[in-house]
Amino acid sequence: MARINENYTRLPGSYLFSDIAKRVSAFTAAHPDRSIIRLGIGDVTRPLAPSVISALHQAVAEQADAATFRGYGPELGYDFLRQKIADVHYGRLGVKIDTDEIFVSDGAKSDTGNIGDIFAADSTVAVCDPVYPVYVDTNAMAGKAGHYQSSGHWDRILYLPCTQENGFIPEIPSPHVPAPELIYLCFPNNPTGSTINAIDLQDWVDYARRNGSVIFYDAAYESYITEDLPHSIYEIEGARECAIEFCSFSKTAGFTGIRLGFTVVPKELRIDGIALNSLWARRQSTKFNGASYLTQRAGEAVYSEQGQKEIRETIAYYQDNARVIREGLLAMGWSVFGGKNAPYIWLKTPQNLSSWEFFDLLLNKAGVVGTPGSGFGPAGEGYFRLTAFGSAENTAAAIERIRTLF
Ligand code: MLT
Repeated sequence: MARINENYTRLPGSYLFSDIAKRVSAFTAAHPDRSIIRLGIGDVTRPLAPSVISALHQAVAEQADAATFRGYGPELGYDFLRQKIADVHYGRLGVKIDTDEIFVSDGAKSDTGNIGDIFAADSTVAVCDPVYPVYVDTNAMAGKAGHYQSSGHWDRILYLPCTQENGFIPEIPSPHVPAPELIYLCFPNNPTGSTINAIDLQDWVDYARRNGSVIFYDAAYESYITEDLPHSIYEIEGARECAIEFCSFSKTAGFTGIRLGFTVVPKELRIDGIALNSLWARRQSTKFNGASYLTQRAGEAVYSEQGQKEIRETIAYYQDNARVIREGLLAMGWSVFGGKNAPYIWLKTPQNLSSWEFFDLLLNKAGVVGTPGSGFGPAGEGYFRLTAFGSAENTAAAIERIRTLF
């Protein structure tokens, strides 16, 4: 008889954003006349850039003609896109990445969720708390997380608390704690919007190299950085020997619907002499047939001069939303974090409400949807996340509704 992967039965409830979507659907079904402003899941609302749309049209036209039609593409990505990523994305940071170190994919969610495949099944893992739930749930599915505790933690995961006291930056584990083999870091951070400076990131790289750990660096929000902070972990000395980096076109160029991302696995990154680059290439070419030709042409257009100008305008639009949320809530005397170099605003719930109490209150009384901090981990209890990805009108209206409610 077939048997299931029992690790799935140990997962609590449903995926955070599916859970929220269900609650919001139930609310709108019960109150069809109420207007809802969604600042929950970090999904973009502005249309794709004109350069991207025109590249998509062009690619569609090519698919309509036998002379230019393309079937299966290279599983790891077309050279035209990998070259642009190397030249433009990394080139402007002064970071040298070879095209065969870049693996084009359908987004950072899949890659951060799948990367564990190439590591030992019983690898030890560290994550921030609060954390993007994909890192934890995918390790739980793979049996690396152990058992779920009533505290909301998994017993085989090392949690790195990110609190107001430490500025939402994880501290290096004490030398008395066995070093985790795999460490997930995300900066600018989802959900707290915190950022890491080069000195603190260097400490993490040094720690990983000392202990033979691998850092998974999720840089999906790097395009929101406005201050002098690292955009890529490869700006840090030694990172090529210990870090894999994930990037996404979702929040940078509005590709949440059409899907595109990339992962960098430097050739120096080896364990027992085996290059992780080769293992990831083997994994991807076996389990993945590549991002679509259309999307990769769209991604290429993002790197044109005009494409860069257009996406920067959209990013500025969302950055202004972040400012409106941040300043609006600060003016109410609330404790507000993030939103300066990140599209996420992390706030302390007022009146000591729990994260879910605040979620329900906001939905029921103001028709505003956010994400409860506790959904990202126990250290997120008492916090709440709002995203800057709504329309400017809705963002301003949401803040006005919150102000009226409190
Ligand atoms: C979020 O809201 O945390 C993100 O949009 C989720 C994602 O990128 O998968």
